This record gives sequence, C-alpha cells and structure tokens, in this order.
Amino acid sequence: MKISLHNQVAVVTGASSGIGSGIAKSIASAGATVIVNHSSERSVDEAKAVLKEITDAGGNGITYQCDVSKEDQVMKMFQDVVSQFGTVDILINNAGVQKDAKFTEMTIDQWNTVIGINLTGQFLCAREAIKEFLRRGIDPSRSVACGKIIHISSVHEIIPWAGHANYASSKGAIKMLMQTLAQEYGADKIRVNSICPGAIQTPINKDAWSTPEALNSLLNLIPYNRIGQPEDIGNLAAFLASDLADYITGASIFVDGGMTTFESFSTGG
Ligand code: BGC
Repeated sequence: MKISLHNQVAVVTGASSGIGSGIAKSIASAGATVIVNHSSERSVDEAKAVLKEITDAGGNGITYQCDVSKEDQVMKMFQDVVSQFGTVDILINNAGVQKDAKFTEMTIDQWNTVIGINLTGQFLCAREAIKEFLRRGIDPSRSVACGKIIHISSVHEIIPWAGHANYASSKGAIKMLMQTLAQEYGADKIRVNSICPGAIQTPINKDAWSTPEALNSLLNLIPYNRIGQPEDIGNLAAFLASDLADYITGASIFVDGGMTTFESFSTGG
C-alpha cells in the first residue's frame, strides 16, 4: 500500500512555516505539485526555502503570495493556478493565526483578524476550489474523487480555551463549515475533512515549548508525553488527500497525542 498523489495539484495555504510547511513537504513527497502559499512579502523567503526543500527532494511546485482573507486575492490565486497547471485537485486550508487576549480586553481588530484569516479565508479558498472541482469533473487518471479539501482545525474545535475566544470560535466554526460542505458536495464526489492538531512545535505556540518549564507544563496536557511535529500532521494530510482515504468524508480527525482525552482527569474527577 503506497500513498500516491501523482499527477495532482495541491494548494496549501500558509505553507511558508509551521504545520503548513510540513504538509507541503509531505504531499510533495507523495507526488503532488504543491502551491506553497504565503500571505505577504515578509514571508517570501521562507516560502522559497520550503519550495527549495521540495525541489531538492525531487518534488515540484511554486510559491504564491495571497492573503486568504481577501476575496479578490483568493479568486486570482485559483485563476492563476488553473491557468498554469490546468486544475486544482487538493486544497489544504491551513493558514491560521492567533491574536490572544483576555476576553474583556479583546479588540475588534484582534477578533476580525483571526476570524478573517482562520474562517473567512477557509470559506473563500473552499468556495474557489469547489467551483474548480465541479468545472473539471472526475478524472480517473488523477483520482477517483472529484476533489479533496482538508481543513486544518485544532483540538480547540472542541476544547474551550480561555484567553483565546477568537481562535476557539474560528475553529468551532470550521467544524460546521467542513461538515456542511461534506454533506452538500458528497454526491459530487468531493471529500471534505478536518485535521485537528494538538500542540505541534511551531512558531505559533513558541511560548508553550521554548523553555523547559513551559514544555513541562504543556506535557501535563498530553498523555503521549511528547510535543507534536509538523510531519505528524503532514503524514495524515497526504493519506487523507489520497484515494486510500476514499470513504472518509465529513470527519474531524484529532492528531494530538491524546490531548482530547483530558489528561487532567487521570488523577482527578
Ligand atoms: C494552537 C496552539 C496550541 C494547541 C494546543 C493549537 O490550535 O494554535 O497554540 O498549543 O492548539 O492547545
């Protein structure tokens, strides 16, 4: 049994660092041509470094700058990718940010930025991807499915998170977006799923692992007793995007070392 994404084109949003870069590398190594999306001029060098790792390993792709919270930019990204590569087969809706604040001190800007990127960005990219999937139709030389969308959610689609109301709200909403799309487009053979990462060692949660004390307290939340790595997510993304996962749609799959078993109950309750 071998995961193959050969002959397929994948857009990975927020792929210049963190979980997105891990996913981009994993799906490229499974054979997909990868669009390494990054949000701004500031992240162009990082995106190019990710692409270089992909091409050095024998894979294919391009970098593409686009702020996923902006409708015109997302529409242009999909148009450009389709004109360069013919179509899009896989969307990994990964781009996401945290703007943490105590709820009573949370600014409208912190709220709008997180909802704009984490939720509206996933809506816009999914809409453009599904339009392209339906235009192309099923092509058995690529995949038995018409298209695949993987939303990168979080354990915080089910675990409430004090001090992060904007982020937790965006992830809770992604669950309903994902399931609704899976229901609405199942008959068209479009598969839609979410990966819900726990604590993965990336820049977004650096404060939680960069000192021994912080890491120790983080590990108290993780039964499997290690922090996750981007390839833990990348491995599942490659599988879920492949035809091996053809009967999986509408699912939230947790990759969290057991965080959602509520470790603190191992000694209490
Ligand atoms: C957040 C991280 C956090 C993890 C577990 C993720 O969705 O982005 O900052 O460490 O959830 O709480």
